[in-house]
Amino acid sequence: MEMRQAVAELLREAVSVAYPDLPEPFLPTPDALEVPPDSGMGDFAYPCFRLAKPLRTAPPLIAQKVAQAAARPLIASAESVGGYVNFFFHRENFARSVLEEIKSRGQRYGGAEANGKTVVLDYSSINIAKRFHIGHLSTTVLGHSLARIYAHLGWKTVGVNHLGDWGTQFGRMIAAFKHWGTWEMVEQGGIDALTELYVRFHREAETSPDLEEEGRAWFRKIEEGDPEATEIFSRFKEMTLKDAQKVYALLGVTFDSYAGESFYNDKMGRVVDELREKNLLIESDGAQVVDLEAWKMPPCLILKSDGATLYATRDLAAALWRKDHYGFDKCLYVVAYQQNLHFRQVFKVLELMGYGWAGEQMEHVAFGMVSYEGQAMSTREGNVVRLDELLTRAREKALEIIREKSPGLEDREDTARIVGVGAVVFTTLLNSRIKDIDFWWDRALNFDGDTGPYVQYTHARSCSVLRKAEPPQAEPDYSALSDDEAQALLRLLSRFPEAVRSALRDNEPSDVTRAVLDIAKAFNRYYYEHRILDGEGSGIAARLMLTRAVRDVIRLGLYLIGVKAPEKM
Ligand code: ARG
Repeated sequence: MEMRQAVAELLREAVSVAYPDLPEPFLPTPDALEVPPDSGMGDFAYPCFRLAKPLRTAPPLIAQKVAQAAARPLIASAESVGGYVNFFFHRENFARSVLEEIKSRGQRYGGAEANGKTVVLDYSSINIAKRFHIGHLSTTVLGHSLARIYAHLGWKTVGVNHLGDWGTQFGRMIAAFKHWGTWEMVEQGGIDALTELYVRFHREAETSPDLEEEGRAWFRKIEEGDPEATEIFSRFKEMTLKDAQKVYALLGVTFDSYAGESFYNDKMGRVVDELREKNLLIESDGAQVVDLEAWKMPPCLILKSDGATLYATRDLAAALWRKDHYGFDKCLYVVAYQQNLHFRQVFKVLELMGYGWAGEQMEHVAFGMVSYEGQAMSTREGNVVRLDELLTRAREKALEIIREKSPGLEDREDTARIVGVGAVVFTTLLNSRIKDIDFWWDRALNFDGDTGPYVQYTHARSCSVLRKAEPPQAEPDYSALSDDEAQALLRLLSRFPEAVRSALRDNEPSDVTRAVLDIAKAFNRYYYEHRILDGEGSGIAARLMLTRAVRDVIRLGLYLIGVKAPEKM
């Protein structure tokens, strides 16, 4: 049983013994327990202030009386300080209960049984014929981690890569291809060749205005399903996806669906008809819009004056289709905060259409910007760092460090890849997602900092201790874990499940990242203060149980943020 639960029961009993007439709603629940900022003040504290009114008694007196009634030394002792009852775990029993729980749950620790709920995660959602650059890093790793966290807590997850594969720019690209491109050149040059064609189109369009019309005509052909246009466009799409797949493979990311914007081409009629029926469409400069002034937002554009649909129209169609198709309980959009307004508009329009679930079940999981070694990312100035290059650099740099630190390591290449990619992912998920990230190599790859490699290294260290341990083991004597360092570590291990739950509640994987980082730090502190493999067999057995728990929880925590844990480094 979790300690919070155990202490809450103890507390509840104590309160009802001390004050039998207190009405039921005032009895403390588990979340009434606070974690004191300093463990010298106890493992949990219960503030009695809220009982002062119903009991007409001063909080310090209540605390005294409850603390007296709460004596169950095998779970925790209780002391009153001011208006608080402070609980101190019974160290040996606490160690036993945490370690046995982790051992029996294994990689399901902190997880939950299937709950029958479905979450759709719209993430990564790259654009066709564009480079996968570090601007897309956050959405990809955040979405991937959230999918794992939801699955761990019993949700069915559907990962959707809502491809940006629709828009007039693709008509222009085909026009450019027809004028100056060949398959040979495009096949060889890949996305770079497509980008060049696109740039050339814009350059030439300045002097030959007919080009724009040609581009529009090609886009109309795509819309109408003209075979040639469709063929060219699908090949562009394939090329982009093949490129992206390399990055996804490195990150271990997969999707359940690649239904992007073009998928909704024939599903937008329903949206437009419904909006019209519900009298939500008004004309504005020839375009059809939904007025959102009452909510202090600019109008949501549904149809342009030429009848073309927009990004928002496709998102409306996508939301309805996903609701019908997956019957989701939640639909998350992991997209940069620049699109805040867009999603507020889309959710509001759905609500106005009568889909009350939109407001409750759909959420824009926004995140900040990524800059690279102090430089902002900007496509226009050509200042883009390609994600595949970044990951390759990460691998090379990790390899250099590993060569220097562990020259004898086998599988160096593999480990370097895992460490390099881990460093990038860990940095991205370390801080609250809304914060901007400035990516620096030295910081991300520092083996002694708040980094992926540091946590991976700690995991490898725990594996190495376990490898060295003699197989025959005595029954663990948990009193060998009564020291402060072991207890600090146990406390963090016992709170790991709360971190996973809060990560889901706030769609904030950094809660898990922080939790594994704290566990790694506490283990290293323990490791420097105590000799795990010395002394009595039963003491060794207990310390090995602790080491094994650290290894398993770090591995699980890293898994939940999409990072692998090598056994040797
Ligand atoms: N392709 C878009 C971009 O790169 C993100 C799409 C996000 N998903 C959505 N349903 N709108 O900006």
